[in-house]
Amino acid sequence: MDTRVDEIAERIYRLSTFLPAVGPKGFTFNQFLVDAEQPLLFHCGQRALFPAVSKAVASLIDLRRLRWIAFSHVESDECGALNEFLAAAPEATVTHGAIGCAIWLNDQAPRPPRALANDEVLDLGGRRVRRLDTPHVPHCWDAGLMFEETTRTLFCSDLFTHVGDPRPLTEGDILEPAMAAESQFGFTGVTPATGPTIRRLAALEPRTLAVMHGSSFTGDGAAPLERLAGFYEERLAKGPAPRG
Ligand SMILES: [Fe+2]
Ligand SMILES: [Fe+2]
Repeated sequence: MDTRVDEIAERIYRLSTFLPAVGPKGFTFNQFLVDAEQPLLFHCGQRALFPAVSKAVASLIDLRRLRWIAFSHVESDECGALNEFLAAAPEATVTHGAIGCAIWLNDQAPRPPRALANDEVLDLGGRRVRRLDTPHVPHCWDAGLMFEETTRTLFCSDLFTHVGDPRPLTEGDILEPAMAAESQFGFTGVTPATGPTIRRLAALEPRTLAVMHGSSFTGDGAAPLERLAGFYEERLAKGPAPRG
């Protein structure tokens, strides 16, 4: 199992592991390293991926320098290898929103987490990440995203999930394959809050969308986010989606 490394914005690295056996066309699991004075890893990957993903991190920085570990929501691909990373990086602190700390990390993490309030900024030294509470978007009560303000990179978690092993970074359309994957898997619990939450992300005008499963996007990030919000609003208006 190999994890490929690509720089998708200045000092923002995508660490991608393709698992061909997952789903009809295989599936990528992507973590992101923000290289700063205090490096931050967004997503850990599953425990089985730890050897490959940690090797990829170590190809960029001394793993012991890792200072922050963050993720969107409690699921194995987002944070399965959290304890392995905390063991390998003794100076690292896991950070999450208040709900995620209350329902999971305060009990499960081997070291106390740092809770971030909605809109709170973590100054990494050269890079600044803003925590955005997005409960149930893409899914899970504790869900939140991060926005790196210097490069205008939005860490999207499972938003825009699409299958296969497409190129690391594209200026092309990620919405069509994302809508196809949503229709197939139904991973988003669509509520009246889904559209407005995604439109709030569009208002940040990101230049890079760091996507957890599939290609990351570079360009006008607000446009695909607006269209994604519209897609979910249409879904909501139509009622329960058929599973394809
Ligand atoms: Fe997820
Ligand atoms: Fe995911």
